[in-house]
Amino acid sequence: ELLTVIVPAAGAGRRMGLGKNKAFVTVGGMPLLVLCLKMLAETRMVRRIIMVVRNWEIAETEKMLQEYQPRCFPGIDWQVTAGGKERQDSVANGLALITDESGYVAVHDGARPFAGTDVFSRTFAKAKECGAAIAAVPLKDTVKIVDTHGFVVSTPDRSTLCAVQTPQIFEIHVLRKGYEYLKEHPFAVTDDASLVEASGHPVAVAEGSYENIKVTTPEDILLAEKILEKRGISG
Ligand code: CTP
Ligand code: MG
Repeated sequence: ELLTVIVPAAGAGRRMGLGKNKAFVTVGGMPLLVLCLKMLAETRMVRRIIMVVRNWEIAETEKMLQEYQPRCFPGIDWQVTAGGKERQDSVANGLALITDESGYVAVHDGARPFAGTDVFSRTFAKAKECGAAIAAVPLKDTVKIVDTHGFVVSTPDRSTLCAVQTPQIFEIHVLRKGYEYLKEHPFAVTDDASLVEASGHPVAVAEGSYENIKVTTPEDILLAEKILEKRGISG
């Protein structure tokens, strides 16, 4: 069984500070988004990819993907669609293009090119057991709840906390139900499992990877170059 993957990449990349969508930033000689698609293809678990970028970036994205496909992600069926204001709007737009009644869908950030085959296969295995699964790693830092005046309110027990990543993999009807719930009870989420949880479906946690970084701030580009070097990947 193969996955359809929704790849949200319709953000502004504000924290990267380059004044453009970080999906197009060059890392290891390739646009970040291409690196991500190459990784997805290399898992051999993916059949179809739905890329979500900002409306005015669709044409350049299509051109870029056509150019890199033969070398980086041959044989994968892909399409590009327009995102929305928030990440959840972008994923909803991608999901709207999936008409399959059954099967599995993964949501994977365009800014996470290092998830890799092991993380995908662990997460997919748990999704097959329970219908919804996410990759996560134990937190390295202590977390505190802080009030608006800059004072600590409390310190949650770190041993119960996980940093959540993508992929997040769902039976298609489970993710659809989550997004229907969101439509009826709008709220802001930063991942897809949140709305699946809110709709009442259990979500299993699979072991992610500390290398599965979300390229977010300028330091992450340096780290990404190092991870590529270590893995011997280049454009
Ligand atoms: N994303 C999206 N649609 C949005 C906002 C974000 O598809 N309206 C995507 C981003 O492109 C990224 C992923 O969701 O691949 C994770 O979001 P984040 O790391 O926050 O990226 P940006 O929103 O681009 O960055 P920033 O928050 O710094 O502006
Ligand atoms: Mg963002």
